[in-house]
Amino acid sequence: MLKKLIILFTVLGGLAAGGLVTLLLVLFVARAWWSTPFEVGPFGGSPEQPIEYPHTIHAGSGVLLLSDGSPKLDGDGNELHGLGLDCTFCHRNVDKGESAGVPPVEQCIYCHKVINSDEDLPEVALLIKAWENKSPVVWERIHRLPDHVRFVHEAHIRYFTEPGNTMPSGEQAIVAANVCAVCHGDVGNMEEVKQVRSLKMGDCVDCHRDNGAPTDCTTCHY
Ligand code: HEC
Ligand code: HEC
Ligand code: HEC
Ligand code: HEC
Ligand code: HEC
Repeated sequence: MLKKLIILFTVLGGLAAGGLVTLLLVLFVARAWWSTPFEVGPFGGSPEQPIEYPHTIHAGSGVLLLSDGSPKLDGDGNELHGLGLDCTFCHRNVDKGESAGVPPVEQCIYCHKVINSDEDLPEVALLIKAWENKSPVVWERIHRLPDHVRFVHEAHIRYFTEPGNTMPSGEQAIVAANVCAVCHGDVGNMEEVKQVRSLKMGDCVDCHRDNGAPTDCTTCHY
């Protein structure tokens, strides 16, 4: 009798453990498929960059803040604002091809040839050093799809800037730079860029369906 009970409990225990493992596996796959990436390694956060390049100063147009949250002031005590450069000024390939492209050092030097006082701007000093050594700045990637997935920036920029088409927000895009926020959020106000949208298969397919874009597997898979 006792032996039978032990066998019974062992079998039941085994089934329960097996069920738990299956459940965890299903949850894991479901999460990998639909939600944001796990915060493993660089995913979910912002990787450390070789140069602390702030989008706020360059692409933002709001009041610049110091690390304690107070406004940054110029010599005369006026609040400093971001330069409000257009996203396509630096990400030049974004409305032309697959990748948006990150600018080469030359493009930064266009301004930093003159904006480069060593003591005040140590991160700019790193940029100047890279320029003088003719070495590229190797930026860490933040968004990266698996190799089996195809993504084309140009198709998205073209579609959402076409007259008559509206972005999911209901707004008309008009220029390329207005489209970026749909997937990347308000980069102009990010001190460090981070991924804010899942961009997992379910996310891509949902938007394709809502906008009459193709949803067959070969659209996005090689
Ligand atoms: C002055 C040049 C410049 C401008 C203007 C600029 N960027 Fe960038 N951008 C960069 C550089 C350099 C990087 C790489 C370093 C980093 O990730 O912060 C970058 C990185 C990014 C990334 C992350 C890429 C990755 O690795 O996944 C996104 C997204 C992005 N920019 C979007 C934008 C958007 C949207 C705008 C307009 C609001 C914009 N950028 C304006 C220079 C620029
Ligand atoms: C249109 C001109 C312009 C371009 C192009 C430009 N910058 Fe700047 N950058 C500025 C100005 C203006 C400041 C603010 C300087 C200050 O705070 O005195 C600045 C500040 C910086 C800082 C210092 C941030 C801080 O607060 O310490 C870094 C780093 C920087 N830029 C990197 C870059 C990189 C990398 C590129 C190329 C991808 C680039 N810049 C392109 C104008 C430009
Ligand atoms: C429909 C969503 C979507 C829109 C809209 C979008 N992006 Fe992206 N972006 C992505 C995805 C997805 C990746 C990762 C691509 C990969 O890994 O192949 C990415 C990667 C990037 C990168 C890094 C890799 C590269 O392509 O150089 C930059 C920079 C970038 N985007 C800038 C922009 C800018 C600037 C805009 C607006 C002009 C924009 N993106 C609009 C989804 C989008
Ligand atoms: C905000 C909505 C939206 C999101 C999110 C989105 N797409 Fe798209 N995608 C579109 C639209 C709209 C088109 C353009 C359809 C057209 O040209 O008529 C498109 C076109 C494409 C194309 C080009 C098809 C072709 O051959 O012309 C590819 C590839 C693509 N998307 C892949 C992706 C992938 C991969 C993701 C997720 C990482 C994604 N998209 C996320 C709306 C979206
Ligand atoms: C609109 C774009 C899009 C379409 C259409 C699409 N996929 Fe995907 N798929 C993706 C993206 C993006 C990923 C990567 C998700 C991630 O980051 O793990 C992916 C991942 C996958 C994976 C790997 C799953 C994983 O967890 O890594 C498989 C398998 C897959 N897709 C099969 C399909 C099949 C089969 C179809 C057709 C029924 C299809 N996909 C259609 C965008 C798409």
